[in-house]
Amino acid sequence: MKVHGKPYRSIWLAEDGWAVGIIDQTRLPHEFVTRRLQSLEDAVRAIRGMQVRGAPLIGATAAYGMSLGMRAEATDSGLDKAYSALIAARPTAVNLRWAVDGMKTLLAPMQPPARAEAAYRRAAEICDEDVEICSAIGEHGLALIGEAWEKKGKDGRLNVLTHCNAGWLATVDWGTALAPIYKAHDAGIPLHVWVGETRPRNQGAGLTCWELGGHGVPYTLIVDNAAGHLMQHGQVDLCITGTDRTTASGDVANKIGTYLKALAAHDNGVPFYVALPGPTIDWTIGDGVGGIPIEERDAAEVTRVAGRTADGGIAAVRIAPEGCAAANPAFDVTPARLVSGLITERGVCQASAEGLRGLFPERG
Ligand code: MRU
Repeated sequence: MKVHGKPYRSIWLAEDGWAVGIIDQTRLPHEFVTRRLQSLEDAVRAIRGMQVRGAPLIGATAAYGMSLGMRAEATDSGLDKAYSALIAARPTAVNLRWAVDGMKTLLAPMQPPARAEAAYRRAAEICDEDVEICSAIGEHGLALIGEAWEKKGKDGRLNVLTHCNAGWLATVDWGTALAPIYKAHDAGIPLHVWVGETRPRNQGAGLTCWELGGHGVPYTLIVDNAAGHLMQHGQVDLCITGTDRTTASGDVANKIGTYLKALAAHDNGVPFYVALPGPTIDWTIGDGVGGIPIEERDAAEVTRVAGRTADGGIAAVRIAPEGCAAANPAFDVTPARLVSGLITERGVCQASAEGLRGLFPERG
């Protein structure tokens, strides 16, 4: 996608061929700042501190983190150290485990001098594959949006609701939930997107609005609590969100608040789709509520809000009393029964074990 007319991915190899460039997502939408990751520790910090975030991008950054780790120390203990540090960085997005497991399986049998080059090569492949996967998700989602538009009699505009940021910033390019939206907009379908602010970190307000605005897609920011009301009043035709981990039976863990939106959609007969790349499926888990680890983040994210002040600075302000107790589960699980369909790179399927196995028969 383009930023001020210049094409960008959310992660890239620097010109020196070894450092890794990222967009610092903690500074958006106020400032567009890029950073250089130069070590395993930089990669871990970027993931943990959410300079990079979104399941596929966390996986891609972890792959480059392994490469940076191998550049510094390609011994067996260096490999173990890089693996353990990265896998502990964030627990819910399974793409992280997928990326570092794959890297370890690839690198462990190699002689240490060969490891760094192989790791960089694989990390670049993971990034290119993610772009292809997300573009394919976009095509399948475009067909679905086209059907919804036909069904609406091509009347007015098609209102799509999304949550958090599952756009190009959350992947390497295109996005998952937003890829169909970009493709539908480019195909001339008159779309309008309701963007839930996504408390506590406001990825909807800060990142999704910034992305959609940059691409010229009409959108309106709403507080998270407004979604049910809009659905009751027929102002949402379709919901599309991303997911950080999808179980083998089609349950999806996504940013906290997704479940409530799915419940409201179910109650109001609004289709609720979830877009995901294959590496976001955890084939080892069936029941999402019992099986998916939910990240618990700092309570300060709940008791404070960060934003731009009138003098142009960026500041966090307290919104709760001093000493206020706060809980911050960062994700929730939407059971498959509330999901109308899963949009993957291989097509759209039912959110069920049968649906997923139909698209991924090799997992059968
Ligand atoms: O905590 P975050 O910002 O990493 O959470 C991101 C999400 O919940 C996205 O919806 C999810 O990763 C899908 S990304 C394409």
